[in-house]
Amino acid sequence: MKSIAVFNNKGGVGKTTLLCNLAAHLASRHNKKVLVIDADPQCNATQSLFDDETVEAFYSRGKFTVYSVVQPLSRGKGFSKVLRPERSSNFGIDLLVGDPELGLTEDLLATDWVQGTAGDVRGLRTTLLFSHLLELCEEYDFVFFDMGPSLGSINRAVLLSCDYFITPMSLDIFSLKAIENISKSLRTWKLRYQRGLDAIVDPKEELEVGDPRWRLSFGGYVTQQYTFKRDSDGQPRPVKAFERIMRRVPEVIKENLLDESMPDMADEDLHLGSIPTLHSLVPLSQSSRKPIFELSGSDGVVGAHFSKVREFDQIIGKISTKLLSNLEGSR
Ligand SMILES: Nc1ncnc2c1ncn2[C@@H]1O[C@H](COP(=O)(O)OP(=O)(O)O)[C@@H](O)[C@H]1O
Ligand SMILES: [Mg+2]
Repeated sequence: MKSIAVFNNKGGVGKTTLLCNLAAHLASRHNKKVLVIDADPQCNATQSLFDDETVEAFYSRGKFTVYSVVQPLSRGKGFSKVLRPERSSNFGIDLLVGDPELGLTEDLLATDWVQGTAGDVRGLRTTLLFSHLLELCEEYDFVFFDMGPSLGSINRAVLLSCDYFITPMSLDIFSLKAIENISKSLRTWKLRYQRGLDAIVDPKEELEVGDPRWRLSFGGYVTQQYTFKRDSDGQPRPVKAFERIMRRVPEVIKENLLDESMPDMADEDLHLGSIPTLHSLVPLSQSSRKPIFELSGSDGVVGAHFSKVREFDQIIGKISTKLLSNLEGSR
C-alpha cells in the first residue's frame, strides 16, 4: 500500500477534482484498489463522489466518518480499530467519508504537536493518528488523502504519515510562493518531528506504529491552466502570463520540493501533466457523480465537448502512468 497526499496549501487549484479523477483512473484502467480519505473538513471529495441524499444519510446518527477515527483520540480513548469506508460504484473506489467536525481537532493536534516534538509520547501518538489509520488500510494499493487548503495541524499530521505527496498548482505568482512556503514548512516539521522521535527510547514500541520515521517524498506536480478566482464582477477568470510562470515552475519545484529520496528525477518526470480548462465538463461530472473521463451523452455532454472528454482521458492517463512510474522508481 502506498499513501499519497494531494496537497497544496492554496485553495481552488483543482486538488479535489484531480484526486477524484486520478483515483478513478487508477482503479478502472490500472485495476488498482483505491481508498480516498476525505481529510478536508469542507468535505468536497465526499460531495463529488456521492449524491446529496446519500451524503445526508452519511451524517445521520452513528455513521462512520473520518472523525469516527479521530474522535476517540480527543477523548483519550486510543485509536479506532475498524475502518468502514463507503463504495462509490461510479468511481470504482472506496471513500472514508469526510466530516466537518474534523475541523474541531485542529487545536488538539496543535497542542499535541508541541508536546510531541518536545519528546512527549502521548503527543507524538496523537500526531501519528493518520499512521494508525493507514495501518487499517493495508488491503489497498493506494490511499489518497484529500486535504483542505492550509498548513495547519491536520494537514501536517496527514503529511507526516504519508509516503508521498503530489501538488496540483495553478500558474500564477502566488503558486510559486506557495511552493516555497510548503518547502519551508516541511523542512521545519521534519526537523522538529525528528527531535521528538530522538527523545524517545524505542519509538516503534512506544508509539505503536510499524514505521514512525518521516518518509514523505515528492511524487510530482500537476499544472492547472484553470484558476478558480473571480473578477470583481464575480466571473471566474483565467490567469494571464501562464507561459512566463510555467518556465519558472521546474526550477522552483526542484529547488524546494526535491529531497534525497528522489535525486535523479528529471523535470519531465516531476511534471505529471497539465490539465486544461474543462468548462462545463467539471459541473457535469459533479452533477452526475462520474469521473470526467467517463462522461457521456446521457450525462449531458454535447457537441465539441465529446472530444474534450477524450482529451481529458488521455491527459489523466498520462498523469496516472507517470505517477506510477515515479512511485516505483523512488525506492
Ligand atoms: N480543469 C478545470 N476546468 C474548469 N474548472 C475546474 C477545473 N478544475 C477544477 N475546476 C473548478 O474549480 C474549483 C476548484 O476546484 P477544486 O478541485 O475543488 O480545487 P481545490 O480542491 O484545490 O480547492 C471547483 O469549482 C471546480 O469545479
Ligand atoms: Mg478541495
